[in-house]
Amino acid sequence: MLGKREDMVVHEAEPYNAEPTRAALAESARTGSGLTSVPTFYTRNHGPIPELEPQRWSLRVEGLVDAPLVLGLAELQEYPQVTVVVTLQCAGNRRQGLIEVRDIPGEDPWGPGATSTAEWTGVRLSDVLSSAGLRAGGAHVAFAAPDFSEIAEPAQTYGSSIPLSKALAGDVLLAWQMNGDPLTPPHGAPVRVVVPGYIGARSVKWVERITVQSEPSSNFFQETAYRLLPPEGSPGPGLGVSLGPIALNSEILVPDDGHRLLAGRTVVSGYALAGGDREVSRVDVSGDGGATWQQAQLGTRLGPWAWTLWSADVELAAGEAEIVARAWDTAAALQPERPESLWNPKGYVNNSWPRVRVHVVEPAATDQVAP
Ligand code: MTE
Repeated sequence: MLGKREDMVVHEAEPYNAEPTRAALAESARTGSGLTSVPTFYTRNHGPIPELEPQRWSLRVEGLVDAPLVLGLAELQEYPQVTVVVTLQCAGNRRQGLIEVRDIPGEDPWGPGATSTAEWTGVRLSDVLSSAGLRAGGAHVAFAAPDFSEIAEPAQTYGSSIPLSKALAGDVLLAWQMNGDPLTPPHGAPVRVVVPGYIGARSVKWVERITVQSEPSSNFFQETAYRLLPPEGSPGPGLGVSLGPIALNSEILVPDDGHRLLAGRTVVSGYALAGGDREVSRVDVSGDGGATWQQAQLGTRLGPWAWTLWSADVELAAGEAEIVARAWDTAAALQPERPESLWNPKGYVNNSWPRVRVHVVEPAATDQVAP
């Protein structure tokens, strides 16, 4: 039912929370033209994964609309269909780097694999909303799902919301396909929301109700969780910065941390993601802990909402080496250098420069090609 590869890093078995290793994410992108295969794609769940029957599923559209709708899957599929490449990134991506600064009890130590890219097929949320007709006073669009989370306080089903302006922008999808196949249960079958450029938490899976309303959702996962608190703060309704558009981030996928490499030129590669409607404009790579830098080559863009894959040939001398990367976006923003200034009690948005440490050895005499 989960359909995940065996070498996933499983942070929790129940509810199932897992990410691919650096090597698996890199290999999947290389063989899948930049897309992440469904078995490799990370999955983040706050409660048991519901198994919904597509024939019995329906979507209610209500709230500040002229004509509330109830749509079955076939009716939803009558709207114009679109296919878009979108990278999903969890706000907890790279939390491990913040935990290394100071422990974050009760939160999973996600690495860089809570970021994956797929081609999503569905219909535009804006088309569905305009067929319901918007009434005055709507400012947010809330999504509700049936999965029940014991983690929430109080325990409740999952929900979230986005500003009405984003919902009407034309890029938010109600999707039923991922990489050309029907969604699997862990990814929201039969239909999920895909909110490009926003943290993954807003892309509500198993969506059953859409409500146009004047205020953001009062669901725990909008009102209390997924908010950036000051270091000494503690979570509470409405406290902290509500997370929406993704912050500029990047990671090194190859080589992996702790690897042993031969001295000389080595390929360093990874991903960068600008978030919002910005693009990645430059990625710098250093093989000496940031003392010197070179620019990476940026791969072909898969679309405005997809990650940018990058690579660089870096010269490494024998010894312990720290490889560092840093991305810039089209607003000339640069990732923050260190995780210390980013630490927050729930461990969200670690977008500090990625670093991997490798052990570089001189090729043994026997490895050398005879003159
Ligand atoms: N939707 C529901 N109904 N329940 C959830 O637990 N998790 C959210 C989001 N949508 C979640 C949800 C979070 S935090 C993320 S990062 C993405 O789903 C992950 O999507 P994926 O599991 O398809 O990778």
